[in-house]
Amino acid sequence: MNEFARITSFVRSMAKEDAGALGELYRDAVKHGVPVIRPEARELLKTQLLLKKPKRVLEIGTAVGYSSIYMTGFLSEDAQITTLELSEERTAEARTNIKQLGKEMQIQVICGDAAETLKELPDDTYEFAFVDAAKAQYIYYLPDVLRVLKPGGVIVSDNILQEGEVLESHFLVEKRNRTIHDRMREYLYVLTHDDRLETAILPVGDGMAISVVRELCKESVL
Ligand SMILES: C[S@@+](CC[C@H](N)C(=O)[O-])C[C@H]1O[C@@H](n2cnc3c(N)ncnc32)[C@H](O)[C@@H]1O
Repeated sequence: MNEFARITSFVRSMAKEDAGALGELYRDAVKHGVPVIRPEARELLKTQLLLKKPKRVLEIGTAVGYSSIYMTGFLSEDAQITTLELSEERTAEARTNIKQLGKEMQIQVICGDAAETLKELPDDTYEFAFVDAAKAQYIYYLPDVLRVLKPGGVIVSDNILQEGEVLESHFLVEKRNRTIHDRMREYLYVLTHDDRLETAILPVGDGMAISVVRELCKESVL
């Protein structure tokens, strides 16, 4: 095991286990190969929710509803989550899970390609966005994510280091992964260089970026 894997394993061993039905949902998702947020990444996500205390949360990438249900545990009861999912099958599963865990009044799942469904969301509405869908699309989601977020809003982007592949030069990456590699690099460049954003890139889980939309800069152009 290399040094980074040892660190990750140690950090993960410190993550709190989910209790009851949420824990079962997590274990079931992992067992069936559904990609869900990693334990060490969800610990970071929850701290950001507790700090920001958002009333409206946007999630891109619902899968079976695990992370949106998890997030409700760190939000006030009147907070609302809108979560976007491409797959009809996963949307149906997520809705069932959300209902079973009694969260249907707090979480709305919208089915469709986020590149399209995002466009239907209103301006200046959300205080927090968790971006966890198709990695090659993050760069294309960003203008709409910025449009729907309020000034001071927070964006948490997951899986931004792509198992370390993002660090490699374009030519060392397998051809089939080059599009994701190049677009993720571009996304990270924009997150860290656009005047509207202040971003920290963290090697937590598969890499997370925490970005804050600067209050006075919402109008700059990408
Ligand atoms: C990593 S999983 C989300 C995991 C979830 N956030 C969790 O931690 O429980 C990514 C999800 O994004 C969905 N997805 C992929 N492309 C999408 C798109 N263009 N629009 C909306 N969802 C998409 C996939 O179907 C998948 O369920």
